[in-house]
Amino acid sequence: MPSQAHLGLPTLGVLAEGAVLLRGFALEQSEELLLGIAAVCEYAPFRHLVTPGGLRMSVAMTNCGAVGWVSDREGYRYAALDPDSRLPWPAMPPTFTALATQAAARAGFPGFVPDCCLVNRYEPGARLTLHQDRNERGYTAPVVSVSLGVPAVFQFGGLRRTDPTTRADLEHGDVVAWGGPARMNFHGVLPLREAEHPETGNLRYNLTFRLAR
Ligand code: SIN
Ligand code: FE2
Repeated sequence: MPSQAHLGLPTLGVLAEGAVLLRGFALEQSEELLLGIAAVCEYAPFRHLVTPGGLRMSVAMTNCGAVGWVSDREGYRYAALDPDSRLPWPAMPPTFTALATQAAARAGFPGFVPDCCLVNRYEPGARLTLHQDRNERGYTAPVVSVSLGVPAVFQFGGLRRTDPTTRADLEHGDVVAWGGPARMNFHGVLPLREAEHPETGNLRYNLTFRLAR
């Protein structure tokens, strides 16, 4: 039997208390979101950041919004200027902000207005090891994450790195929002499998919205 997502009806799943999976929530806007990503990366190209430990991240990143998430030998932080160009990050497209606000509200976090959108690009094999989103100034606002292109396996755990994780297949148009008791939960993405998506080829994109400042 086809799932509701296949019929175009958004479904709601709970990954943990305070962590909600909104199946297909961004499907209708997916084309516009991909055009937005193309515009952002023309101005602020994708790059492979280096971790404080000196490792090149397999996920390529860029940002839009008032601040952007960056990493280098000095540490992880939010910066108002793109360290490559020394220019401000491109503005967040209004469709991005509206989607993040709507998804957060649907997940039980009304009034979310992000000031940062981290754009992640995964090629086959790229992954994000378990981590917490903890560089924001406060943790009262949720994190909203939008998946586009090739599907990926998302891991969602608890407050300790060693806590058991739930796995969810995140497909084109899926949104996950976590906040409240789940705001500091560890999460990650398993190595991207080789696959083809009609709109992105063998790539996966992820938009992660936060209130950083
Ligand atoms: C992140 O944790 O910043 C990204 C998660 C994802 O790519 O789904
Ligand atoms: Fe994260």
